Amino acid sequence: MHIRVLGSGAGGGFPQWNCNCENCAGLRKKNPCLKARNQSSITVSSNNEDWILFNASPDIRAQIESFPPLQPARKIRDTGISSIVITDGQIDHTTGLLILREHDKPWDIYCTKEVYEDMTTGFPIFNILEHFRGINWHEVQTDQSSYTIPKADNLIFTAVPLKSEAPPYSPHRHNTVPGDNVGYKIEDTQKSKNLFYAPGLGVIEDHVLDYMKNADVVLIDGTVWTDDEMSKHGINNKKASEMGHLDQSSKGGIMETLNSLKKPRKILIHINNTNPILREDSDERKLLEANGIEVSYDGMDIIL
Ligand code: MLT
Ligand code: MN
Ligand code: ZN
Repeated sequence: MHIRVLGSGAGGGFPQWNCNCENCAGLRKKNPCLKARNQSSITVSSNNEDWILFNASPDIRAQIESFPPLQPARKIRDTGISSIVITDGQIDHTTGLLILREHDKPWDIYCTKEVYEDMTTGFPIFNILEHFRGINWHEVQTDQSSYTIPKADNLIFTAVPLKSEAPPYSPHRHNTVPGDNVGYKIEDTQKSKNLFYAPGLGVIEDHVLDYMKNADVVLIDGTVWTDDEMSKHGINNKKASEMGHLDQSSKGGIMETLNSLKKPRKILIHINNTNPILREDSDERKLLEANGIEVSYDGMDIIL
C-alpha cells in the first residue's frame, strides 16, 4: 500500500492566513527551518492507480496538483480519486468536498451516521452536493467491524471510535458519541502490514492503544506540544484537550505513549501552526527525533 501525505497541517494550515505567531511569521520571513503545510489529508492506494482520499481538506485543489497520480488525465474530465473516507465532520476534513463538486458522478463517501448527520444539518455540505452530482453515502459502523472499498484490492478498513471533539456545529459538541470521530486501521492483507491513522485524538483509550501497538506505522495527532499552547501565544484561552487533541509533551501524552510502543514506525500528522516541533532546529523537534518520532510533511510517501 502506498500512503501519500497530502496535508500535514492542522485546521488553518501553516501559515494560517491571520496568524502572526513565531512560526507563521518565521515562515513568511523565509526561515529555512520551517516548511509550509496544507490542511490535514492523506490518500491511500493498493495499485497506484485508484486512490482513496482520507478527508477532503479546503486545500484539496493544490493537493491534487501536488500529486500527479490524482490527475491521470485519461479523458477530458478525470480524477485518480475513486472514493472518499471522512473521519470526522470538522471543517478541515470536509470543506474540500465542495471543491470536488464538478465530479462527473456521485462521490462514494464513507463516514459514520453521526458525521452524515452533521453534513446534512449543522454543516450541510452533503445537501449542497445534491444540487450537483450528489453522493453515495456508505455508512461506516463504529463496532470495529472491517469493510472493503471497491478498487482498493487487498485493503481492509476498520473504523476505530476515538474520544476527540465533535465540530462546533454538531449537536454532540462537548458530549461526543462514538461516531463523531474515528481513526482507521488500514490493512494490506497481501503484505500483512497495517497503518493506524488518527489525525484527531483526545484520549488514548485501551482499544486505541491496542491498535497502535499492533500497527506497522502509526500516523497520529501531532496538533500541539503543550495543552495550553494557544493561550500561551495569546491566541485564545482554549486548551487543546477541549478541542479534542492530546498534547505531545505531558505525562501520558502522545510522546510518552509512542515511546512505549515497540513495533511501529511513529509519525505525527495534523500539526498546528503554533507547535514548536515545526521548527526543525527547535529543542522540541530534537527531542522527538531522539525518541525516533517523525514529523510528517506535505508530499511524504509511506510505503507498506
Ligand atoms: C481541529 O482539529 O480541532 C479542527 O481542525 C479545528 C478547526 O479547523 O477549526
Ligand atoms: Mn482538525
Ligand atoms: Zn501561527
